[in-house]
Amino acid sequence: MERNEESKTVYIPVSPCGGSGLVAPIAEQIESGSACGKAIIVGEHAVVYGAKAVAIPVHSMQISLQIRKRHGLILKPRVRMYLAGAPVSEHLRGIVDDAAELLGIKLDALDFHGTSTVLIGAGLGSSAAICVVVLKTLAEFYGIGLTAPEVAYMSTDLERRFHGNPSGLDTAVVSYEKVVSFQKGTTPSPIKITCPKSASESADGKWRFVILDSGLRSSTIEMIEQAAPWFNSEAKEERIQMFNELADEVTQGFGTGDTKLVADAMNKANVLLDKAGIVPDKIKGIIESAKACGALGAKITGAGGGGCVLALLDSDSADATLTKLKQEFGAARVNEVTLL
Ligand code: PMV
Repeated sequence: MERNEESKTVYIPVSPCGGSGLVAPIAEQIESGSACGKAIIVGEHAVVYGAKAVAIPVHSMQISLQIRKRHGLILKPRVRMYLAGAPVSEHLRGIVDDAAELLGIKLDALDFHGTSTVLIGAGLGSSAAICVVVLKTLAEFYGIGLTAPEVAYMSTDLERRFHGNPSGLDTAVVSYEKVVSFQKGTTPSPIKITCPKSASESADGKWRFVILDSGLRSSTIEMIEQAAPWFNSEAKEERIQMFNELADEVTQGFGTGDTKLVADAMNKANVLLDKAGIVPDKIKGIIESAKACGALGAKITGAGGGGCVLALLDSDSADATLTKLKQEFGAARVNEVTLL
C-alpha cells in the first residue's frame, strides 16, 4: 500500500449550521491504499476442500481506495462508500463495519472512494482485493500496523461476506503480493521463482502469462455450489491428491525455470476443472485458440462459469504469440502478466 502522507489544510465553518461564517483551519485526514488482482495457476475449487494451490498476483490490475474523514455536520450514514463514483450496496458497505470490528476501532464519519481495474466477477479476485484494500487502508488510517500474514488472515474473515466459506487463497496472494503456495488453514508460503529456461538470447528472462477475458461473468458462490458434487464424491481424496501433485509440479517448475512443467500442470488442471463442471464452451474455445496462437498451457482461472483464461507463453516466442492473441481476441481482452 502506498501511504498517502498528503495532509492538506482545509477550512470549515466554526458553526456547522452556518453561524458566524468564521473559519478555523483543520488538518484533513486522508489515507490511500491499493490492492492487486490475482490469477490461480492451479488448485481453484480443490483448495476449498484442502488441496494445495498456487496463485500469482496481477499487479497490472488494482483496486485503489481513498478514505477521507468528514467534518462539520455529520449526516447519516456515518460511513459512505463509492466505487467509480457510484454508491455501493449496503451489503458491500458493511465490509467497513466488519473490518472496524476486526480491528477493534470505533469509526469516525468517513467517506470511502474506490476505483477498480480488477475485472469484477471474472475470476481475478475482485472480492479479495476489496477486502484487503478496505482492511489495510482502514488500519493505516487509524495508525494500526498490520503484517501481510495478519492482513491475509483477517481479510479471509471479511471475504465470508461475499462467499460464505472462502479458502483464503485469494486473500493470501493479494495480501502478500507474491506468488504463493497455499493450503487452507495454513500460513501462505511465497515460492521461489527462477527465470524461465530459454533457448533464445532475445528472451527477456520473465515468466509471461496472459489473461484472456471471455466477457462472461459469474458468481463465485454459485460456481462453488456447481463444483461441489464432483469434489464431495467418493473419489474425493484421489481428486484432491491429483491437484496436490499438480501444485507440486507448478512449485517445482517455478523454482527451476521449467515453463513446460508449469504449462503441463495448467493443462491437466483444466481437464479436472472441466470434469468438475465449471468450464463453459466459450472458455474451451478460447483455450484452444490460445494454444493455436502458440501458448504452452492454458486453463480457466478462478471460480469459472465464465471469467478468464490464463495462458502461459513460451519464453522463446512470447512476443509473436502475444501479437497473434491480440489479433485473435482484440487487444482490450488480452492482459499480459509478467513475473520477475
Ligand atoms: O473467482 P474468484 O476470483 O472469486 O476465485 C475463487 C476461487 C475458489 O477456489 C473457487 C474459491 C476459494 O475460496 O478459493
